[in-house]
Amino acid sequence: MPHDAIQAAANALRGARRVAVLTGAGVSAESGLRTFRGAGNPDLPPDMHALWKEFDPQTLATPEAFAANPEMVTRWYEWRRIGCLAAAPNAAHAGLATLERLLESRGGGLTLLTQNVDRLHQRAGSRHVVELHGTIMVWRCTRCGARTEPAPEPMREFPPRSACCEQRAALLRPDVVWFGEMLPEDALRAAARAAEECDVFMSIGTSSVVYPAAAFVLQAAANGAKTIEINPEPTPISGRVDWSIRAKAGEAVPRLLALLRD
Ligand code: OAD
Repeated sequence: MPHDAIQAAANALRGARRVAVLTGAGVSAESGLRTFRGAGNPDLPPDMHALWKEFDPQTLATPEAFAANPEMVTRWYEWRRIGCLAAAPNAAHAGLATLERLLESRGGGLTLLTQNVDRLHQRAGSRHVVELHGTIMVWRCTRCGARTEPAPEPMREFPPRSACCEQRAALLRPDVVWFGEMLPEDALRAAARAAEECDVFMSIGTSSVVYPAAAFVLQAAANGAKTIEINPEPTPISGRVDWSIRAKAGEAVPRLLALLRD
């Protein structure tokens, strides 16, 4: 791990009151969940290769795909939901929950902006989580918008039907944000506020190519925040942050915490 960058990042965090963190699929990779992109690690088995290398997002993650083939789309999301339920939070999730408590004990706070739909941050104990891309754990009636949290057991009907609308005529869809859809307004507002108010902004395990999330770190920098990236691979923001730490989140986050406590 690059010692100088991580030491400097820890120093910045030590002086911070308000911290914002943006996480992406890489934060859950060490929990065994596949990322969407990334050069890929040749040591990984094929069932851990990046999702968008095996699947086409246009046929699975758009409103048009759902309209054209709701059975295929909902089966795919259900396969991923079951995978998320079987996964456990890792040291990065746990470390971010600990950092939130540490900052709160000092009168500050942490806003965790996540692009992940897996709910692992909440399961690790993070409280102030903003789900920018929704969650796969909740499904929504396409007719009335009512939200429901399906039981952990695998669903049996594809596409699943809504229990709330008459004669189960309406379909259920995962409460995630698809390509071509707007992010939830309250999540966008919370992200803008966090990027404006934070002293330090950390971008962890994201390829930083999907907007608007990829822009938050630059907005925070423009507002005077110190910026940190944690990712084993370079990304479009690596040269634009104050410290780019080329390491796995499950190693770098606990190391940062240990340095903070020294
Ligand atoms: P990506 O799959 O695009 O990027 C994952 C990043 O995690 C890559 O840059 C990897 O190098 C990095 N990574 C891999 N293992 C890591 C580890 N152990 N620790 C830290 N980083 C690691 O995932 P996102 O940036 O989250 O949207 O993708 C953004 C959005 O694109 C997703 O929310 C999803 C996707 O299409 C929708 O489905 C709408």
